[in-house]
Amino acid sequence: NKPYVFITRKLPDEAIKPLTTLAEVKMWPYEDVPVTREVLLSEAKKADALFTMLSDRIDREVMEAGESLKVIANLAVGFDNIDVSFATERGIAICNTPDVLTDTTADLTFALLLATARRVVEAAEFVKAGEWKSWSPFLLAGHDVHHKTIGIVGMGKIGQAVAKRATGFEMNILYHNRSRNEEAERKLGATYCTFAELLEKSDFVVCLTPLTNETRWLFNREAFQMMKRSAIFINAARGAVVDEEALYDALINGEIAGAGLDVFEKEPIDRNHPLLALNNVVALPHIGSASVETRVKMMELCCRNIVAVLKGEAPETLVNQQWLEKTRRVL
Ligand code: GLV
Ligand code: GLV
Repeated sequence: NKPYVFITRKLPDEAIKPLTTLAEVKMWPYEDVPVTREVLLSEAKKADALFTMLSDRIDREVMEAGESLKVIANLAVGFDNIDVSFATERGIAICNTPDVLTDTTADLTFALLLATARRVVEAAEFVKAGEWKSWSPFLLAGHDVHHKTIGIVGMGKIGQAVAKRATGFEMNILYHNRSRNEEAERKLGATYCTFAELLEKSDFVVCLTPLTNETRWLFNREAFQMMKRSAIFINAARGAVVDEEALYDALINGEIAGAGLDVFEKEPIDRNHPLLALNNVVALPHIGSASVETRVKMMELCCRNIVAVLKGEAPETLVNQQWLEKTRRVL
């Protein structure tokens, strides 16, 4: 009997080929519509492996339904959509897609920073709307990026790749992280700061921290009030790291100068959300790792992880290391 794999989104057949030789594979039939809760639960019941999206909530209920579930491969580096400690308890391996998306996500983060600072989106819309009547000295004048201070909150792999890009713009680099990263300090000339110090000194505050109980609403009213009035806030991590109401008030009250957001507390964000009405907000639909090349690599990595676990081997990018210790003891 072949193992059964359920994929919660329609993916190209080519990208999932490694799975189809080993397992019976079923996909949710739509590319642009997330799987319904009912289908997710009924498929989980039969599945040996789930291949999931960051928009799927993989909680206790899903894992309890999955009586023969051995592995969940999430098409993302983040895994805040999954109850990892419960998975570990249940003996389910959780895999993510780090590394392959690092440079792609750093590129988008920097593009968002540049777009927000130099008002690229506003300016492009202005031209297409036929509003360009004359050249004028301060027409759509923004803020410089080069030689300014960037403060990176979350100096993991993506944070370091953003810092590397910042060196090309001759920026002064500050960072805050749970633990100091001496390699980043040495290689990139980054300076470790407390969170408060970083907020006070940075021209660009860039959020790249995972969403955890410790980072939920890390960027609250107090945080925005500590930033420079000229500061630009960039979030390419997770929406819930920010109190969006506090961010909106900070933008409206001139406590900060602008925001570039790739992620939101609720995705998709409602088109009537007050943040979307602000000219100094650049909003993107969670496309940090969205290059064709990288998305294919992420899919391939998910497949390899699933194949490994189904064959009784260790997956390449395991989130819950305890799963491996537990499994090794059994083997
Ligand atoms: C995207 O947000 C990811 O976590 O990969
Ligand atoms: C701008 O185009 C300039 O020539 O300064």
